[in-house]
Formats: sequence, C-alpha cells, structure tokens
Amino acid sequence: MPAQLIDGNALSRQLRAEVAERAAALTARGVRPGLAVVLVGDNPASAVYVRNKVKACADSGLHSVLEKYEATLTEAELLARIEALNDDPAIHGILVQLPLPAHIDAHKVIEAISPDKDVDGFHVASAGALMVGQPGFRPCTPYGCMKMLESIGVSPKGKHAVVIGRSNIVGKPMAMLLLAANATVTVCHSATPDLAHHTRQADIVVAAVGKRNVLTADMVKPGAVVIDVGMNRDDAGKLCGDVDFAGVSEVAGWITPVPGGVGPMTITMLLVNTIEAAERAAGI
Ligand code: GUN
Repeated sequence: MPAQLIDGNALSRQLRAEVAERAAALTARGVRPGLAVVLVGDNPASAVYVRNKVKACADSGLHSVLEKYEATLTEAELLARIEALNDDPAIHGILVQLPLPAHIDAHKVIEAISPDKDVDGFHVASAGALMVGQPGFRPCTPYGCMKMLESIGVSPKGKHAVVIGRSNIVGKPMAMLLLAANATVTVCHSATPDLAHHTRQADIVVAAVGKRNVLTADMVKPGAVVIDVGMNRDDAGKLCGDVDFAGVSEVAGWITPVPGGVGPMTITMLLVNTIEAAERAAGI
C-alpha cells in the first residue's frame, strides 16, 4: 500500500489560523506582534525565502519589517542594526537570513541577537536550552517536523529515529527534539559508512542533507515515517527533496512531499515563535 502523505500545506493552514487568532488577541491589547527580517546581499534563494516570510506575516496579522542591505555591508554595521532591533519594542522576533556574505561572521551575528527575540532558535542560549530541556525557541524546521509527527498521531516515544544530516539548523536540533520526545536517536552524516544499515532499522527517518536520492526504497523499513527536509532541483529543474519520493512512498507508511511538506511548516513555526515572543514580551 502506498504511503500516506503528510500535508504540510494543510497543517500550516490550521496552525496559521491559530497564529492569526493569537495575533488578533495581542493586537487588541495594543501589542502588534512584530518580526524583523534582515537580508544581506543578493542570494536569489534567500530573497525568495525572505519574501515568503514577510508575506506569511502579513497573511497572519503580524507586523514585519524587511531590512535589505548590499553585500558590502560591514559586520560592524550589521551588529549595530541588530543592537537597534534588540532595543526596538515594536520588534519581538529578529531573523537574519543565512547564509551571510563571507566577510561577516554569522556566529557573531547570531549571538548578538537577544535570546528573547531569537525566533530562529539559532542562538547558543536557545541551543543550550533545547539540549538541557529548558524553555526556549526551537529551530523552525525541526520544530515543524515534530508538529508533523504529532499531526499524524505518531509519538516518537520508544521509536527508533534516524536523522540524516548534522547541521546546526536542522540535523542537530532535530535529534535533540526527538530525544526529548523519548525516541532512540541515531544521527548519520557524510562519514557514516553504511547509511542503509541504520535507516532500515528506523521507525522515523528525517532526511536533511541537501542532496537528491539520499534515501531510496531499499533503505526504508516498511511502514516507516519519512520526513524529507531537502530542497533540491532535479535534472529537469523541478523542485525535489533528499528522498526518492516515488520509490520510498511504495514502502513507507507516511511520507512528506516536496514541495508541500516541510517547507511551509518552517515558515509556520517562525510565525508561532514570533507570536510566542510577543506574548512573553506582553507578559502572557
Ligand atoms: N537559511 C536557510 N534556512 C534558514 C532559516 O531557517 N533561517 C535563517 N535565518 N536562514 C536560513
């Protein structure tokens, strides 16, 4: 039986409706939730992501400010902008789109964001809070993947989850979130000798590598949940993930499509984090 689809668009619509309600309630109390999105340089993919984030804010009743800078912006200038946004009471969340130009130290910039406004969840304070089980902002993509599991009624508790990829943005926080939800977690990466050996034992596989066909049908346990974080182009230029969707959907129990899977959930969880930041700032 082919796998059931986990529809990120449908789940996003539902969660964004809740965000819109919370945004309206806050606005009625005189606090309009606000997100600042900072884009440096002219990376075309980043420009699309940033546009989508700003549009999502408007659609859910959040205030947003897009600050666009030339690639020649200095690190000191960017840090000064972050400082100003940290002090701006109309801004509850700050997102600096990555990657940054090579002359800017992204780590330094992320650390300059107030942890109270770190809606990307990339600050070491947020990463540390996740690691030790304290409240804090969770990175949007893995947070969205957890919401997708919840939406299909699959609890990670007692399951074997395999995460492919170990980035700070997805792989590592994904592993931490699954661990916090009582899964047994294996993290695989480019130096893992036999990836299929691990994935074949997995009840849940999260593929977050950024390479096509990292996971094929022969590597998947029948009935497993497969979450595809990848965003690639196939030879025809069509958007595709890290998973061989056609093959794997014949074996898996559940699978996320690309597009229409994790992608919309990432932006949705950014809205959720921003609302939460605004509610905390308002003392709710
Ligand atoms: N670049 C790619 N993904 C992301 C993300 O989730 N947040 C930011 N700030 N930059 C990114």
